[in-house]
Amino acid sequence: MDDTRTKDKGQGLSRRDFLRTSASAGLGMAVAGSALSARGFALTQEPDSSPDDLNLAVIGAGEQGRILIDSCLHIPGIRFKAVCDIWEYSQRYSSRYLKKYGHEVNVYEDYRELLAKENDLDAAIVATPDWMHATHANACLEAGLHVYCEKEMSNSLSRARSMVQTARKTGKLLQIGHQRRSNPRYLHAIDTLIREKRILGRVSHAYAQWNRAKADMRGWNKLYAIPPDQLAQYGYTSMTAFRNWRWYKRYAGGPVVDLGSHQIDLFSWVFGVNPSTVLASGGVDYYKGREWYDNVMMIYEFETEQGAARAMYQVQTTTKHGGFYEAFMGDDGSLVISEVPQRGNWALREAHAPEWDSLVKEGLLQTEKPPIQKVDTRNIFLDVRVTAEAGRWPLPVELAKPAHQPHLENFFNAIRHDIPLNCPPEVGYETAVAVLKVNEAVESQRLLRFRPDQFKA
Ligand SMILES: NC(=O)c1ccc[n+]([C@@H]2O[C@H](COP(=O)([O-])OP(=O)(O)OC[C@H]3O[C@@H](n4cnc5c(N)ncnc54)[C@H](O)[C@@H]3O)[C@@H](O)[C@H]2O)c1
Repeated sequence: MDDTRTKDKGQGLSRRDFLRTSASAGLGMAVAGSALSARGFALTQEPDSSPDDLNLAVIGAGEQGRILIDSCLHIPGIRFKAVCDIWEYSQRYSSRYLKKYGHEVNVYEDYRELLAKENDLDAAIVATPDWMHATHANACLEAGLHVYCEKEMSNSLSRARSMVQTARKTGKLLQIGHQRRSNPRYLHAIDTLIREKRILGRVSHAYAQWNRAKADMRGWNKLYAIPPDQLAQYGYTSMTAFRNWRWYKRYAGGPVVDLGSHQIDLFSWVFGVNPSTVLASGGVDYYKGREWYDNVMMIYEFETEQGAARAMYQVQTTTKHGGFYEAFMGDDGSLVISEVPQRGNWALREAHAPEWDSLVKEGLLQTEKPPIQKVDTRNIFLDVRVTAEAGRWPLPVELAKPAHQPHLENFFNAIRHDIPLNCPPEVGYETAVAVLKVNEAVESQRLLRFRPDQFKA
């Protein structure tokens, strides 16, 4: 709710001021008890009303909207008031789920009706398909709400730019859903180990991939088919397009944007600069008839403070070989990390590099585990010795929460305590520029250059 519209009775404090004051005084953090979610994490139970509660609406309660709802249910002081979705299936599923945890919500089909009728909201979560993010986020910001908006910010740079500008104009917070930016494992790996301690030495290369097995187009329960005229009213040409919006140019940027944006976002975080060029190759090679490229490979160049660097990325949708992870490579070592720790959560030290035992003593790394198959390097050629597998130094930080929870917590803490967002719209926009350019590079079949001013909204 708008700060000025929500003056607390008789105290002359805006709701946000009051939230900040009461939270810092330790009020309102009481949680009635806990239950377990379907995935075994502790959920906060039916929240008792308290002064620093934040009232929330969700716009877009599909698969990701429900994951975010579930994550919020672990966070004390979050009260869901309303859900908006054009699909009855999503409306019913999410409102029933919320009711189970004590959140009675009003359900809307049209976000404009929600914003007109709900007058006690603090923030909204936007998890609609990418092409609607700007419409929904901008309307919420204009209505005085803070917004957590899923990635990709938009499939159009002009719409993404409008989101940065609306956030600036309204003074409301806009967090973009690149959740790795709040993940303590990634913060430790990138901010502490790579950037502060420089354990990898000069980082010259990065590699990331998201490979997933082939999958059919998404279907739907025929009882919940939306009539064509209603679909058309919301811009969808068919139920197939509505359910499989990711594959359509009008609604999304394809797999490289959908999956790659999370990981390409990390390249500029690690290198400390945005890319200077991109070269890409991809195509609709397997799923004939789909609009977006089903596989893309690309190389970015960066001009970092330490010198030239390159990052290679691939997305595949017909093989899950290697899964998804990111690797950062320097002359003293490399670091492999993934949102799934089993796929990456370790550093590897080059034999000549400064010792890492002191980092273990400081608690920044765990003791080296020998390579799975130790190579006997005594009687083999020199070039084999310098490429033989090194031991792994596991990272000591764990995330014992659902993956999106810390990013949501950062958003709520920014509302309550004025701390900085981990992914403000300016950062989300820079990533959108880097990622959306890839499709242009595939199409043009040539190396494309970025100008630094292109990253500014
Ligand atoms: N951060 C992550 O890890 C992550 C993971 C998956 C998806 N996402 C993002 O979340 C967003 C949603 O993805 P999803 O997988 O949940 O898609 P989905 O198709 O499962 O859900 C989208 C929901 O939005 C609703 N919707 C569509 N148009 C609407 C409109 N005009 N008004 C209101 N509701 C509307 C649909 O009915 C559906 O319930 C996308 O932007 C996607 O990129 C992020």
